[in-house]
Formats: sequence, C-alpha cells, structure tokens
Amino acid sequence: MPEPHHRFLRACLRLPTDRVPIWIMRQAGRYLPEYMAVRKQAGDFLSLCKNPELATQVTLQPVDRFGLDAAILFSDILVVPEAMGMGLNFGLGEGPILDPAINAPGDVEKLRVIDPEQDLDYVMNTIRTIRRELADRVPLIGFSGSPWTLATYMVEGGSSKTFSRIKGMMYDRPEVLQALLDRLVDAVTRYLNAQIRHGVQAVQIFDTWGGVLGHDEFLEFSLESMRRIVAGLERTGPDGAVVPVILFAKGCGSHLERMAASGCDVVGLDWTTDLAQARLRVEGRVALQGNMDPAVLSATPERIRREAERTLKAYGPHPGHVFNLGHGITPDCTPRKVAALVEAVQGFSFGSASS
Ligand code: CP3
Repeated sequence: MPEPHHRFLRACLRLPTDRVPIWIMRQAGRYLPEYMAVRKQAGDFLSLCKNPELATQVTLQPVDRFGLDAAILFSDILVVPEAMGMGLNFGLGEGPILDPAINAPGDVEKLRVIDPEQDLDYVMNTIRTIRRELADRVPLIGFSGSPWTLATYMVEGGSSKTFSRIKGMMYDRPEVLQALLDRLVDAVTRYLNAQIRHGVQAVQIFDTWGGVLGHDEFLEFSLESMRRIVAGLERTGPDGAVVPVILFAKGCGSHLERMAASGCDVVGLDWTTDLAQARLRVEGRVALQGNMDPAVLSATPERIRREAERTLKAYGPHPGHVFNLGHGITPDCTPRKVAALVEAVQGFSFGSASS
C-alpha cells in the first residue's frame, strides 16, 4: 500500500513527519465571525448541516484562515438519531432536543435501520463537495458519535448533567440499553463506511460521555460497542489509501491501554492524562492525539505558545503525535488566540526548542 504524503495521515499511522500536524476539535463554529455569517444565511444550525454548499464553506473556513493540517466534515453527531426516526431540534441556548426520548423496549424497536446513502445523502453530498474544493490540500476527517454517547442524548432526550435516565436504564434494564447500543453499532458502522466510500480520509469516533461511566461499565457499554464498529469498518478508501480510525473518549485516560487494543490507529486524549506517560503506556501500538486544555486559549498568546510547546515536548520527538486540544474549542474563544496556537505548533521544532 502506498504511504500517504499528508503529515496528518502520516502521524496517524506513526510514520515520520517534517513537523507535528495540528487540527482542532470544533475548529469550525461560533467563535469565527465568518461562521456566524454563513449560519445566518442558512437560517439555523441544522439547515446549515443539511446544505452541502454552505456546510462546505464552513468546513473550509478554519483551514483557510489558520492553515490547519486537516479539515473536519461540518455536521453533527445527532443527525444519526434523526435519520433513525427521532425528532431533532437545536433549541436556542438550551442545546439539542431529541423527541420523544427512548424509554421502553418498543421505542428501540421502532428505530429505523438506516441506509446512509439515502437517509444521510446530504452528508455524502457535503463530503464530495468538500473533497472537490479541498483539491487535496489537506485530508478530510469524517466522524460519528459513539453508540454510548449517542444513546445518552436519545434516552435523556437531550443534554444532561446527571445522566440519571440512561444510568437508571443501565442498572435496571440493561437489556434495553444493550438493544439500543446494538442498533447504534449497526447504524454507526454503516454511516462511517458510507463516509469512507464518499471520500473521507480518516474517521474519528467521539465518545464525549464515556467518562461518566464507572470503570467496568465503560468497558461493557461503551468500549465494546466502539470495538465492534472498528472491526466493521472498511479501512481503505476508494483510492486504495489506508483510512486511519481515531477513538476519542473524554475522561477515559485510565482506559488508555484498552482503547489502544481496540483496533483503532489513534487514541485522542483529554488534558487530564499525562501525555509523556501515555506514549510509554501504549508502547508504539497507536498514535496519540491531543491534549492541551481548551481553556488555555483564554490566556495570553505568549502563555498559549508556552503551553503548546509543553504539550509537544511531553510527547517528544517521536512519530505518532497529532496535536489537538483535549476537547472542542469553546464559543467564547477568539480567532487571534487560535492563530497564536497554530503558529506555535507549526513553528516549533525539536532542534531549536526554546525552554
Ligand atoms: O469539529 C468541527 O468543527 C466539526 C463539527 C462538529 C459539530 N459538532 C458542530 C456543531 C462536530 C465534530 C460535532 C460533534 C458533536 N456534536 C459532539 C461530539 C464532540 C464534542 O464536542 O464532544 C457532540 C456531543 C455534539 C452534540 C451537540 N451539537 C451539542 C451538545 C450541541 C450544542 C452545544 C453548543 O455548543 O451549542 C451541538 C451544536 C453544534 N454542533 C454547534 C456546532 C458548530 C453549535 C451550533 C450553533 O452554531 O449554534
């Protein structure tokens, strides 16, 4: 198989690179004035996700402005539950609402088996449009939520602080939760494979809420379903290139070794994990992505540069590091701070490292 030439893909596969690649979770979004303008043009967030021309524009905005090393498909993890038949609304200021919430076994049975080519055709169309516009400048990352994280929104009916409903289901009626997770393993596998067929060059599975689970519950209800998805993915794109798989589970640093053994190529880490130790713990079996605290972006550009260098030095001059934040950029961030971060990472070299 030919080796990729893009430094982001090379780092995912632990091949040597000229410097550490950087992309940022939630790199497109409300902190960018040009995003707000296009969202206004679309009417609302979900209409923006469903408009391939406008979704392509906002995907490219941060790549063009900052010179990032990868683009990420502009969409949302919750379009999958919508395609399975749930009502989806992004209420102003209150986050997403999925309606009616899943509770009884009958609710799970009513969920549709998705055909992503039809039910999520707008995503496939966006992927093709982005690839055409990118013209191979940088690779395109596709994504999905993990079954557990998607299930939290479907059972809670939206965002939650306590996760009482889904945890109640997990302890009292684990068979109902497992039936829901089985449906989601199937849907996410189909969805990511369709994204790969339409041209995404890497995929990331977001397990944003894996960290709210107890140790054994994470292994049983989250990691196992992600492992089944990874096993079911077509790992080569239509052009014959390897498609790396990134597993990002927030708050799950204690499970690093097990995540590394899931079959994925890259594990994404949040800022609570020691990156230098993490590299030793995975013993070169996977690449690592991360893991600067997003809150550093509220500091001065000089402090941002120091923290970025600290993160780079923690991993050290070894292959297999993709620089990222430990979670998404927050809307109160400013483009100036992101520019400072990208310059710091792209200007850094181990040879000329200042302390
Ligand atoms: O990273 C990117 O730039 C690509 C786009 C992307 C979005 N959502 C756009 C978005 C990605 C990869 C996601 C994934 C996503 N969506 C996750 C997992 C990643 C994570 O952050 O942990 C989750 C949990 C969701 C669900 C979701 N979408 C919530 C809870 C919210 C509301 C919270 C908020 O920030 O308002 C969204 C909305 C959302 N998704 C926005 C964007 C740009 C904001 C919508 C707006 O423009 O108002």
